[in-house]
Amino acid sequence: MHDPAALRSMHQGRFHAQPSIFVAPGRVNLIGEHTDYAEGFVMPAAINFATLAAISPRADGKIVIFSENYGEEKTYDATALPARPSSHWSDYPMGVVSILAGEGHKVPGFSLTIWGDVPLASGLSSSAAIGVSSMLAVLSLAGASYPGPVIARLCQRAENEFVGANCGIMDQFISANGEEDHALLLDCRDLSFRLAPIPDHVALVIANTMVKHSVVGGGYKVRRAESEAACAVIASHRPGVPFLRDATLEDLEKWGSEMAPKSLLRARHVISENLRTVAACDALLRGDLRELGRLMAEAHISYSQDFEGSCVEADAMVELAQDLPGLIGARLTGGGFGGCTVNLVEQKDAPAFAAQLGRRYTKRFGMAPEIHICHASSGAHQLE
Ligand code: GLA
Repeated sequence: MHDPAALRSMHQGRFHAQPSIFVAPGRVNLIGEHTDYAEGFVMPAAINFATLAAISPRADGKIVIFSENYGEEKTYDATALPARPSSHWSDYPMGVVSILAGEGHKVPGFSLTIWGDVPLASGLSSSAAIGVSSMLAVLSLAGASYPGPVIARLCQRAENEFVGANCGIMDQFISANGEEDHALLLDCRDLSFRLAPIPDHVALVIANTMVKHSVVGGGYKVRRAESEAACAVIASHRPGVPFLRDATLEDLEKWGSEMAPKSLLRARHVISENLRTVAACDALLRGDLRELGRLMAEAHISYSQDFEGSCVEADAMVELAQDLPGLIGARLTGGGFGGCTVNLVEQKDAPAFAAQLGRRYTKRFGMAPEIHICHASSGAHQLE
């Protein structure tokens, strides 16, 4: 599917120039939800769905971007970059251009063709895949390069400062730094990380509820604000707690009564999720899949009940998986309010698991979910 030759001929046919081609994957988060912007822990894996970006220089000072997925072309002037987003798919690559220009890079005119197969609005980070692939492409043209963690930070800034999505760094980080067959435990405070191998006999089964998810929209922002309000209460007593990463469950016992009830619940999720995420990485590293599955189940309940970040369909997708042969652990993945569940499943059982889960979900909701058997893939790199 990720065929650079097809993208090359598409780009050549449209722009009559030889491109360099880059790829950046989407991701699935195994555990650690809404902890990244609290400087906590996350454990995602890059997946074998990705965005490819083909780039070639232009002599006319224009930036021309073609999205194969949208069948649409958009033109900008490289010497008069837009100051604001336009609620258009091209905001993602243009956010990257804007951040690089702000960092002092001379970005010349270019033609960019983007193609991707990360399902959109499904909680699998299609936007990070576009941002990171565009970043590698534009950097190569500007004759510059950065280490993976710096690329991730610049791409996060493009989303925060240009696109207007108040996201953390998880998605951009794993897209830029993922490793084949590994999950990555990231400390979002200092961007240090540990790689944990996912055993060969375990498949990542991603089940799309088909309920659309968005980070730009309401629910994500509200939850973030609620959890940050809880942190402010703790910090008023204990100034050493700038982020919920630094808070404990005891802090909630002491000062929870001063918080709005919803804020208390959101903070309980974030604080307990950090503990679970580190424990989940330890479990994976020592091969204790039973414990990993238990932590994923607990994480889903916390996400659904305390954080209220799930939805009826995602709760059902998790519940309907419980007694299927081969299941190790299941939970809603990503920013919430729809999107996909991640299921760790014994590889040999994965096809039957996917088929049965699909049948059960269709029977319950009258709509067929898309279910993908994935594996952990490598992070962004140049293909040609
Ligand atoms: C989205 C955001 C991430 C993270 C998750 C929730 O994917 O882009 O930064 O906050 O939601 O864990």
